Amino acid sequence: MGDIDVNKDLVKKIVQQVLAEQSGSSNGNGGKKIFAFSIRKDEEPYVKEWASKHPNIEVGYTDELLTPKTAKYAKGANGVVVYQQLDYTADTLQALADEGVTKMSLRNVGVDNIDMAKAKELGFEITNVPVYSPNAIAEHAAIQTARILRQTKVMDEKVANGDLRWAPTIGREVRDQTVGVIGTGHIGRVYMQIMEGFGAKVIAYDPFENPELKKQGYYVDSLDDLYAQADVISLHVPATKENFHMINQDTIAKMKDNVVLVNCSRGALVDTDAVIAGLDSGKIFGFVMDTYEDEVGIFNADWRGKQFPDSRLEDLIHRSNVLVTPHTAFYTTHAVRNMVIKAFDNNCKLINGKPADTPVKVG
Ligand SMILES: NC(=O)c1ccc[n+]([C@@H]2O[C@H](COP(=O)([O-])OP(=O)(O)OC[C@H]3O[C@@H](n4cnc5c(N)ncnc54)[C@H](O)[C@@H]3O)[C@@H](O)[C@H]2O)c1
Repeated sequence: MGDIDVNKDLVKKIVQQVLAEQSGSSNGNGGKKIFAFSIRKDEEPYVKEWASKHPNIEVGYTDELLTPKTAKYAKGANGVVVYQQLDYTADTLQALADEGVTKMSLRNVGVDNIDMAKAKELGFEITNVPVYSPNAIAEHAAIQTARILRQTKVMDEKVANGDLRWAPTIGREVRDQTVGVIGTGHIGRVYMQIMEGFGAKVIAYDPFENPELKKQGYYVDSLDDLYAQADVISLHVPATKENFHMINQDTIAKMKDNVVLVNCSRGALVDTDAVIAGLDSGKIFGFVMDTYEDEVGIFNADWRGKQFPDSRLEDLIHRSNVLVTPHTAFYTTHAVRNMVIKAFDNNCKLINGKPADTPVKVG
């Protein structure tokens, strides 16, 4: 042993580097911290799961939203994990930056509530989770489609009231429907598979055709073709400016009588008044709405014992051929776990100076 020349300083340096790698720390001191805002009870187990797998990163969290006031909870953290409908205003971002935090990972997709100009000015790095479980949303849309076709809301109400007669609550079989899918991205494609499993004839429209689906002959040439052929129409497109109110009086007029409309995408895609007119005239057989153009501030709140804030929505909720859910298509254990774990993974990479899996363009 005595004749081996050991460079003790070099060994010490290497050991420090290895420990730093293991701890996820880039500076070799360990002790990095991520703080998460607005953690719900159903997210807590997944925060704990992530923390237990990353013992060298300190994880703190609160159920409170991120605001200029609560930003101080992030003091001493290297990055934050967030999800809220409340705007990330210039003041909020400034308050975070004042605590030295400019690495922010969203647990959701949408970034339109972030003041991007301010974020850019402050040098923020931001990530989101664009895909967390397409099945969650596609399954919900498929379940609700089938429920509308079998008139389960009417039958359930009848049974609850002791009316056990069959007629006139007769169902339509899915295999007899032509299902038109608008948007064949992550969610639309899963919805197509599920509806095909029921035996439906599936057609689709997307300006960016998926080569595999194209080979299999699913696409029609235009939205008008889809409107003319489909008995069920399900929207799986983003709420871009071009897609605002794509379902309106004119497009509804192009659809078949007794059409079923399914919107588990974004409220802004649908002119709600036009759909109500279609329901009133009998043109539309049923309407599935998981999203509503005026949902912000209404969905995910308890209105029991209070004045309901939107009479149009209240009317829709009480119609027997309308199925309203408060933007819960995504809300499954699988999806929520992915949102939490992927956001923390992203943030961990950011705070260690590594490229995140799903960065958001800031500015
Ligand atoms: N209800 C919920 O809980 C929930 C959860 C997640 C996502 N969503 C929504 O679901 C929708 C689809 O999400 P995704 O992950 O499948 O998106 P995606 O980006 O994977 O796919 C969207 C597809 O729509 C196509 N498209 C855009 N405009 C179109 C048009 N006018 N006509 C036909 N096709 C068009 C695009 O080319 C793309 O292929 C989005 O609106 C998203 O916000 C809802």
